[in-house]
Amino acid sequence: MDIKFPRGFLWGAASAAPQIEGYATADGGGASVWDIYSHTPGKIDFGENGDVACDSYHRYAEDAALAANLGADVYRFSVSWARCDPLGDGNWNEAGFEYYGRVADECLRRGVQPVVTLYHWELPQAAEERGGWLVPETAEAFARFAGRMAEYLRGRVKLYFTLNEPQCTVTMSYGDGSHAPGRVLDKAGQFRVLVNQQLAHGLAMRAVKAADPDCTVGIVSTGRHCFPDSESPEDIAAARLAGFDLAGGDPLFTHNWLLDPIFYGSYPDCEGTEWAELAASVTPRELEIIHCPPEAIGYNIYHGKRVRAAGGGYEFVPEYPGFPRTSLGWPITPEALDWSVRYLYERYPAPTYIAENGLACADVVSLDGRVHDPQRIDFLARYLAALSRAAAGGVDLRGWLHWSLTDNFEWSNGYYPRFGLVYCDYRTGERIPKDSYYWLRELIAASRE
Ligand code: FCB
Repeated sequence: MDIKFPRGFLWGAASAAPQIEGYATADGGGASVWDIYSHTPGKIDFGENGDVACDSYHRYAEDAALAANLGADVYRFSVSWARCDPLGDGNWNEAGFEYYGRVADECLRRGVQPVVTLYHWELPQAAEERGGWLVPETAEAFARFAGRMAEYLRGRVKLYFTLNEPQCTVTMSYGDGSHAPGRVLDKAGQFRVLVNQQLAHGLAMRAVKAADPDCTVGIVSTGRHCFPDSESPEDIAAARLAGFDLAGGDPLFTHNWLLDPIFYGSYPDCEGTEWAELAASVTPRELEIIHCPPEAIGYNIYHGKRVRAAGGGYEFVPEYPGFPRTSLGWPITPEALDWSVRYLYERYPAPTYIAENGLACADVVSLDGRVHDPQRIDFLARYLAALSRAAAGGVDLRGWLHWSLTDNFEWSNGYYPRFGLVYCDYRTGERIPKDSYYWLRELIAASRE
């Protein structure tokens, strides 16, 4: 197994507020859309909700210790907008800011750099009721919060990500309704959500840089990840094309429809298609705000699609029956961390982080009291070897973060998908490091020798 990264490569793990914290409205916090959605009958598997989750609101010091004992350089967590700005109107709840100050301090005290996601889907319910991501005022309110947070955390946080996976907000929260707030909009409505998220990135990045010029600001993207069926030049070119191509699937779930305007100030070429009118509806003033190239880019990559050249173009190679899959049914395709990352870097040559990568397993506490997860170890060994190849291939790769540090509330799937390096017993909050945690700890230590 060949897993090698450049000097200074950062190892870490990630989480998000609604998935781990619980107690959203304690000490003056406001409800987010997830608090309301998860209490709507039929929305979450097994009728679960995030009311308590891993109770990281009280147990954050244990989480910081777990990250430190893993040997992590960084711990990525999100700050809940609604906890700090309950109505999303700038009437701050100081207790919210103080909580995140304590989380950051606890990481720093243990030698772990806090990395902050400013928005991981925790829209204040009150802001949703004023129009949510369908109105530009939400982008402005978010930027005000982001600036205030950066001012508060100045000197403690070096790397921020503005938004996590706008593609999911667009196509799930406001597309098929499978994420909070559960709205079902047509393509034109979803496109406006995309534009408002892009405005939010541009405004928030400027606000954060104004508050703390020394920090680095990025965005976290996800999308269609393609890799070639063979190393023939034709297949390699076909896979490069398929990841960004309009005919390859919903453009609202691609990296380029999010990132092209942010990096380059224009939407991907779509002339003569149904998308042209929507793209043309974005005003020059909006594009000016949106055009705000991040100083770092995070990709969340879990799986990809195999592609081969066909008839002068490309085709997706179907997965064979019995294809290896995680317990959420996601295909296990390590190649996505190699090829797809290279294609992305060619298009967006910014310092690159894998901001999330991991898998859901049906982990249980065994009779010996431990959690054995050989599938996770095997998955990580394969994916990290693939990522090493991308690094060797010239990608400016700065770090890799495991999703997640602990098991947590997996949105509409509730608690059954377990993504953590650390098992969480939700009845007690007890954390049990899994075998993969110890395996990764050794790998990280060996990488420093
Ligand atoms: C990503 C999300 C993250 C987690 C993983 C499994 O899309 O950013 O919160 O749910 O998927």
